Amino acid sequence: MNIIDIINKKRLNKILNDSEIEYVVNSYLNDEIKDYQMSSLLMAICLNGMTDEEIITLTKCMVDSGEKLDLSKIKNVVDKHSTGGVGDKTTLVVSSIAASLGCKVAKMSGRSLGFTGGTIDKLESIPGFKTKLTEKNFINQIKKNNFAITSQTGNLVPADKKIYALRDVTGTVESIPLIASSIMSKKIASGAKKLVIDLKVGKGALIKNENDALTLAKLMKKIGETHNIDVVCVITNMDNPLGFNIGNSLEIKEVIDVLTLKGEENLTKLCLELGAQMVMLGLNIDENEARIKVKESLESGIAYQKFKEIVELQNGQLELLEEAKYKTPIKSKQSGFIFEIDAYKIGNFCMKLGAGRINKDLKIDYTVGMVLKKTINDYVKTDEEIAIVHSNRKLTEEEINEVLEAFSFSSKKQEIEIIKKII
Ligand code: URA
Repeated sequence: MNIIDIINKKRLNKILNDSEIEYVVNSYLNDEIKDYQMSSLLMAICLNGMTDEEIITLTKCMVDSGEKLDLSKIKNVVDKHSTGGVGDKTTLVVSSIAASLGCKVAKMSGRSLGFTGGTIDKLESIPGFKTKLTEKNFINQIKKNNFAITSQTGNLVPADKKIYALRDVTGTVESIPLIASSIMSKKIASGAKKLVIDLKVGKGALIKNENDALTLAKLMKKIGETHNIDVVCVITNMDNPLGFNIGNSLEIKEVIDVLTLKGEENLTKLCLELGAQMVMLGLNIDENEARIKVKESLESGIAYQKFKEIVELQNGQLELLEEAKYKTPIKSKQSGFIFEIDAYKIGNFCMKLGAGRINKDLKIDYTVGMVLKKTINDYVKTDEEIAIVHSNRKLTEEEINEVLEAFSFSSKKQEIEIIKKII
C-alpha cells in the first residue's frame, strides 16, 4: 500500500476502504507515514469529507491503536463530555450530581489548549489535588464513592494524540469526520456504555452553526450504536461565556456557587439538564423522574457533599484556593442592554493573561481570569462595572479596551436559549 495513492484518492473525493484507513492510522503511528503526508491527507478529508462508513472504520482503527479501559464489571457507569467552551465548568457540577444519585462516573478529562479550558487544569488550581490516578485507584474509587476523575490512565488512543497535535498546527481541526472520530474513539476506549455529550455551538466553540452541530451529533450517535454505547447529545449555546467566572480557580469557586444554589441562571439550567440526561441513562429511568431527582440532589446539598468528598479523597484543599494579586474593574463606556459577550475574545484574553496555554509547554497561572459582573440582557449605565479582571500584573489601557470590545449592546432585550436541542 502507498500513502501517495491514498492521498490522491481522497483528493479526488473517492472512498477509502477499511485496509487503506487501517494502514494510514498504523503507519502514521509508527512513523512510516510522515507529518507532511498525513497533513496533506487530513486537508483532503477536511475539504472532501468522509462517508459514515469511512468514519466508523477510522474511529475503530483509532480505538485499536492503544489500550482500552474495561468498566464492564461496574453497573450504572455513565460518562459526560463537552466539546469545549469558555467558562465551561459543568463537568464538575453534573458529575457530582449524578454520583450523589447512584450513577458511577468514570471521568477522564483533558487539559486546556487554546482559548477553551480543561477540567484537569481547573482541578489542579485546588492545592494538593491529585489528577493522576492509577487505573486500580480510579476503578476502586468509582466502585466505592461513585465518582473519580483523572487525567488519563494507560495509553488510550495514541493515534488520536498524534493526529490531534498535527491537526492543531495544520488548520485541520474543524472537520466533522475528524472531530467525531477523535471524540468517540477516546470515549469508546475509556469504557463507558452510556454517554452524554454537551455539543457547544457558537462564537466560542469549535462548531459555529447549528446545522453542523446536528450533523456531528447524529454521527456521534451512529458511531456509538456500532459500539453498543447509548449517546445523548445536548446542543448548547456558546456565543457567550458560560456563567460569570472564567479562569481556573475562579471557575472552581463558581462550581461551589452552583452546588450551593448561588449559580448564574443559564449555567444552573444547563447543569440541571446535563445532570438529568446522565441520571436518565445511568439509572435507566424516565427523563422526568431524572429531572426531579437531579433538582432534589442540588437543593438538598447531597451533590455538594459529593463534590467535597471527591476533592478530599483526591487530596485537594478547597480552603487553600488562591487569588490573583490585582483585581481591575472594567467600566462600560456606554449604556444599554448587554447583547453579547464574545466568548472567543474573552477566552483569548484570559488565555493571554495565563489562564490557558497557547502551546503545550506553557505553564498555567491558576489564579488569573475574569469575573463578569453583568451578563446578557442586563441593563448597564455608562461607567458601571461590567467585569473584574484578575491578574498578577497591572493591565495596560490597551488590554482594558480589549475586554470592552468583547461586549456589545442593544436598546432592547433578546431571547436566548442556552439549550438548543437534545438528540
Ligand atoms: N475535541 C476532541 O477531543 N477532538 C476534536 O477533534 C475536537 C474536540
